[in-house]
Amino acid sequence: MDQIAQATEDDPRDREAARDLRRVGAHPDYWYPLAWSRDLKPGRTLAARFAGDPIVLVRPKQGPVFALADRCAHRQVPLSRGMVEGCSLRCGYHGWAYDMAGRCTDVPYLDKGKLPNGVRAYPCREVEGLILVFPGDAARSDTVPLPALGSVADARYKTRRFGREVACHYSFMHENLMDMNHQFLHRRQMGKIRPRFLGQGSGPDWVEARYSFARTAGKQPLAEAAIFGQRRTGEEAHAERDVMTIRTEYPYQTVRIRTDGDTPVMDLWIVHVPLDREQRQCRTFGLLSVKRLRIPGLLEAAWPLLVLFTERIFKEDRDIVEAEQAAHDVQGADWNQEVFPVIRRLRALLRRCGAPDHVPVSVRDAIEPDAGAAACPLHREAVTPAL
Ligand code: FES
Ligand SMILES: [Fe+2]
Repeated sequence: MDQIAQATEDDPRDREAARDLRRVGAHPDYWYPLAWSRDLKPGRTLAARFAGDPIVLVRPKQGPVFALADRCAHRQVPLSRGMVEGCSLRCGYHGWAYDMAGRCTDVPYLDKGKLPNGVRAYPCREVEGLILVFPGDAARSDTVPLPALGSVADARYKTRRFGREVACHYSFMHENLMDMNHQFLHRRQMGKIRPRFLGQGSGPDWVEARYSFARTAGKQPLAEAAIFGQRRTGEEAHAERDVMTIRTEYPYQTVRIRTDGDTPVMDLWIVHVPLDREQRQCRTFGLLSVKRLRIPGLLEAAWPLLVLFTERIFKEDRDIVEAEQAAHDVQGADWNQEVFPVIRRLRALLRRCGAPDHVPVSVRDAIEPDAGAAACPLHREAVTPAL
């Protein structure tokens, strides 16, 4: 059975199974974080990107943050190199000024009655240390809710804000996180872990997987003990009690670990924002909330260990997904032989909910795909990339 037939069987609603997932753009009609609040000081600008579109974030000394196309209407230079004046942004070249709606309000050498058109303004909100922008159809922004950011606002939790750029299509990140069979990759950090798949769920815009784990060799890392709130020795005894739920609710992901009852001991919210037009790079924004321990100050004391541990895990994940992207670039098509049903479901979801148009393909891809696909040893027929 070929891959396309599998995907269609898994989800009959997926009419787009033939699309190469790595060329499906992130749908722009959602709220995406483009920066951390802490990186944009009052009276300053910050250059950001969404899928190749340059966007300038502006924080006036007073008033809310706003977002404009980072191209001056005059000669297209980045407005992020300009000056913030009150609630306006003045281009650094000839001094044209724009208000927060993108209207041109001043050209220093023109009458007010002759002002040219301005630049695009993006809906923008600031929540829990994230600057969120709606890069799609602005008229839809009022009806699309802001993401629920896990337990970040809950005082019972301590939250780590983390993330960095990763040189891969965002879909590799979704697959990496949801497929816990990749614990093998983390064997040096975590010891030998045996995941047990407990079940899945799905809806029009979400897919969920539930796991429990047993450590079959090696010791529990201290940072993991800090997350669970206890030191684990006889791991088999806890295997059925600890349940990890991983959910992609388009376009966001969450991971929750519960040990007893409904309150998670760990609650992660994460999103992978495409940066370049080809969407071969993304920037991850993650909020990792860990429930505070019974002994006051203990989690704070363990925090540096937890940071180090999660950074090491993240680095292993980043290296491997970048290797996946590199293989895709050389092969010019997705040769994935996915065998795990929940990941096939996830892939169908990402195709279905993604942008309707394919992301543009570079010259490098345009030259290589046929030769590469024809050489694929795992397919009976050559894979023709859906360009
Ligand atoms: S390029 Fe911006 S004012 Fe001329
Ligand atoms: Fe991982």
